[in-house]
Amino acid sequence: MKMDTDFHMAKGEGETGYINNSRFQRKALFETKRVLQKAVTGLCSVVQPPPGNLVVADLGCSSGENTLIFVSEVINAIRGYPLEVQFFLNDLPGNDFNYIFRSLENFKKSRSTKEEHRHRFTFLGCQGPTTPGFSLPKAFICFTHPIVSTGTLRYLPPHGLDVNSKTYLNKGNIYIAKTTPLSVVKLYQDQFQMDLLLFLRLRYEELVLGGNMVLTFLGRKNEDVYGGDLNHLSGLLAQSILCLVHKGLVQEEKLDAFNLPFYGPSVDEVKAVVRESELFDINSVKLFESNWDPYDDSEGHSIQHSIQSGENVAKSIRAVVEPLFASHFGGSVLDELFKEYARNITRHLESEKTMYSVIVLSLQRR
Ligand SMILES: C[S@@+](CC[C@H](N)C(=O)[O-])C[C@H]1O[C@@H](n2cnc3c(N)ncnc32)[C@H](O)[C@@H]1O
Repeated sequence: MKMDTDFHMAKGEGETGYINNSRFQRKALFETKRVLQKAVTGLCSVVQPPPGNLVVADLGCSSGENTLIFVSEVINAIRGYPLEVQFFLNDLPGNDFNYIFRSLENFKKSRSTKEEHRHRFTFLGCQGPTTPGFSLPKAFICFTHPIVSTGTLRYLPPHGLDVNSKTYLNKGNIYIAKTTPLSVVKLYQDQFQMDLLLFLRLRYEELVLGGNMVLTFLGRKNEDVYGGDLNHLSGLLAQSILCLVHKGLVQEEKLDAFNLPFYGPSVDEVKAVVRESELFDINSVKLFESNWDPYDDSEGHSIQHSIQSGENVAKSIRAVVEPLFASHFGGSVLDELFKEYARNITRHLESEKTMYSVIVLSLQRR
């Protein structure tokens, strides 16, 4: 599992690509609109004209329309301020930067009204994991907005659960499940704390005093580390892999060796790490819920079209994990795997409509 090559989203404009399967992330982006606006306008008054220079970074921009929505939100928020803005669009080397820069050209043309001519915008691609060794330009006023879910806050798989260690401590599971030993839960939690702390330290170096950062990522509604919706979602995925093991398409050892490089924290866990860092003040933190099916905007407890919803959820998850799964299980089993996953999701949704818990955290650098 290599971050540079395996952690990016599914490429291309086809049926399984992230570009066409990122509606959940878009919905999350709309939910963060107010927090984002507040953070940007808060900075505008600090940046000194004439003309002030605001540096905005989208960490984990991926490729697709969502980055354009993010850029629009920022441009709308700074309307009225005589600012020059530099956008740094950051993602891993495997990301399709060409697509995003092609869309930006059209976007710039479509927005060149008189009002916007008062601002000057520059867009720069910024390739590299947001980990040690990588750094955004320093000494700028910098607003950092990694969106969403498994964004740049994607964690490494816990050390000790490393595939190469050959000690399969979490057999049959790919994340925290009912049969996951407490020692493995602890590995996940320690890795989460270590990675978030490191992320905060690195961003602290890049942000100027008073700079803002809005983080949006999947989390957990309750404190029960076994009981979040991500546990369900990954449990159903593990079941689907097991089905392929039974069909002889995947070796059992491959399933035993795989652990998602991800942890869904509770709000309290996140707050505790931020406080421990002593680097940022928490402006606000909230948790909102969003239906698993990104195309289901209903608010009730019932699912209207469970088969379609199962397929929608499976496609949106595939778009995020495909490169990772292809590297570990092999690309040839993915169609079968995600068909099985869609069926499992459908069965689950028929008994219980389930939602993601999304945490939106707005931080200010001390
Ligand atoms: C779920 S996508 C979100 C994309 C986009 N912001 C959106 O809202 O649609 C997460 C993105 O984070 C990127 N990513 C994951 N880990 C990263 C890291 N350490 N550094 C930079 N980008 C990373 C992935 O490649 C992916 O494009």
